[in-house]
Amino acid sequence: MKGGYDHFMMKEISEQPDSTFNTMRGRIDFKNKNIILGGIKQYLSSIRRSRRFQMIACGTSYHSCLAVRSLFEELTGVPVSVDLASDFMDRSPPIFRDDTCIFVSQSGETADSMQVLKYCRAAGCLNVGVVNSVGSSISRETDCGVHINAGPEISVASTKAYSSQFIALVMLALKISNNVIDNRERHEEIINGLEEIPNLISKVLDKKDEIRDISLKYLHGKDSMLVVGRGYQYASALEGALKIKEISYIHAEGIQAGELKHGTLALIDDKMPVVAFATQDSFSPKVNSAIQQITAREGRPIIIMSEGDKMIDQSKASACIEVPKTVDCLQGLVNVVPLQLMSYYLSVAAGNNPDRPRNLAKSVTVE
Ligand code: UD1
Ligand code: M6R
Repeated sequence: MKGGYDHFMMKEISEQPDSTFNTMRGRIDFKNKNIILGGIKQYLSSIRRSRRFQMIACGTSYHSCLAVRSLFEELTGVPVSVDLASDFMDRSPPIFRDDTCIFVSQSGETADSMQVLKYCRAAGCLNVGVVNSVGSSISRETDCGVHINAGPEISVASTKAYSSQFIALVMLALKISNNVIDNRERHEEIINGLEEIPNLISKVLDKKDEIRDISLKYLHGKDSMLVVGRGYQYASALEGALKIKEISYIHAEGIQAGELKHGTLALIDDKMPVVAFATQDSFSPKVNSAIQQITAREGRPIIIMSEGDKMIDQSKASACIEVPKTVDCLQGLVNVVPLQLMSYYLSVAAGNNPDRPRNLAKSVTVE
């Protein structure tokens, strides 16, 4: 069942070159740069008429929505709101008939998300699912959708579902916006980037021993840590911190790098462990300045950086993990893998069972 791995979680992390490929299989014509999503075909014109996209999810699935939000807005020109299902229900905000609500869920059974789906059905908007489990409640009760085809995810900590949700949402944004001529070059760049993703994830997985050694040396036994990222990497920071909390039981907080000076810098000293996402993109100057703010206060971050990047000052880092570079909006698919691996190794080192974290269930069917 575990395919030679000690835990389902490691099996599922390691499966990502295949699971991400399967999400795209039959849906991306890489030669002609075309996206085929059978599940939304009939509803495409209604989706394109929407004045707003409202994404709803919980936990890791919520982070996959945050990871693609700016790409959605860039390509479609339509505002995107992303809400935690529980918070959405607490507010019960207005939903219009010309909204498209996108429900993202691995299990398709999460009670909070189902509750919002009922609310949105009553409001008369179009409801689209992005779901792993075929035949689940969300898959059945949405008007249409996209199955992410990641295969069964057994470990409570979600890993391969995250990368596949991320890709399914990117494909959805590409499909919705492929009638806009101005997008053509960007579309081609992203589709070419998607083709490379399984291979790039494999390259990060090849570094797992290095990532284990760094985690054990600098993070094992700590009570608390920060994970810092900005722009496309803010979602990676939140998701990385959730993984660490969930299975290693170390308090971890995902921080938007621009927010450091609004409070969190007060926590930085030579004892506070920090992981910083600093792969190259248009936000790099700002991220590098945030790293300087950290090192100036004796923080010694572990930096996730692009291979061969000469702009990163490695002299004051505890360690640097080099990852392959891809298109800016897809980089999170590569960057999240070291954090998945770190959380796994920290969990095992702490004597925990990463597949069955205390107090948590795989599918949260109560509100
Ligand atoms: C479908 C088949 C796939 C087949 C392919 C061939 C299923 C589940 N999938 O994949 O086996 O290889 O055609 O062209 O039979 N849906 C929702 N909500 C969701 C997710 C999906 O309503 O959250 C609906 C879709 O609108 C669609 C159906 O479920 O009607 C299947 O969706 P999906 O598996 O994504 O469609 P295809 O990729 O076309
Ligand atoms: O099945 P769903 O994607 O709706 O589940 C949502 C969350 O419960 C889930 O992602 C949870 O946060 C994971 N255990 C995180 O690893």
